[in-house]
Amino acid sequence: MKNILKLLPILCIVLSCNSDKKQEKTASTSQPKELSNDTAVDQKSDQLKASIKEGKFIYNDLCITCHMGNGEGVQRAFPPVADSDYLKNNQEASILAIKNGMSGEIVVNGITYNSAMAPLGLSNEEVADVMNYINHSWGNDYGDLITPQEVAKITE
Ligand code: HEC
Repeated sequence: MKNILKLLPILCIVLSCNSDKKQEKTASTSQPKELSNDTAVDQKSDQLKASIKEGKFIYNDLCITCHMGNGEGVQRAFPPVADSDYLKNNQEASILAIKNGMSGEIVVNGITYNSAMAPLGLSNEEVADVMNYINHSWGNDYGDLITPQEVAKITE
């Protein structure tokens, strides 16, 4: 009996420790929502997610025939948009290519292409959506959200 009484305080400490941990856990998971900065980031990524979703439809409609479903393109004929150093390093030129078409020599991942991509007749919003899709698919993670306003500004 004496032994059990001795154990009781220890048991209480262990139990209260556990419940403290639980409280910490719930406190830390709810914390980010209270910070205004994180809320802004959340909204932005929601906007980006929505744009990527729209962009996927456009890609599957208009781009997939040449750049393929996995974004790898067709060797020596159509350049890749997945893991493309050109897309990564030339965001404005890529936007312009999707807006107005592209021709002449370009080098993508060390391979020279000298072909043509016809203008596809997309609105600024559609260009932004499809850019956001290819920038954030197949392991690509290039830049922030592109808006139709930014696309409108890029004219040459
Ligand atoms: C008829 C085939 C064809 C279609 C359809 C097409 N492209 Fe292209 N695309 C090309 C070719 C060819 C080039 C390279 C042009 C050159 O050699 O100057 C290119 C270049 C590009 C580039 C820059 C180079 C790179 O690979 O990073 C991007 C970005 C791109 N296309 C995105 C798109 C998107 C997005 C769509 C759909 C909205 C699309 N393309 C539709 C053939 C196509």
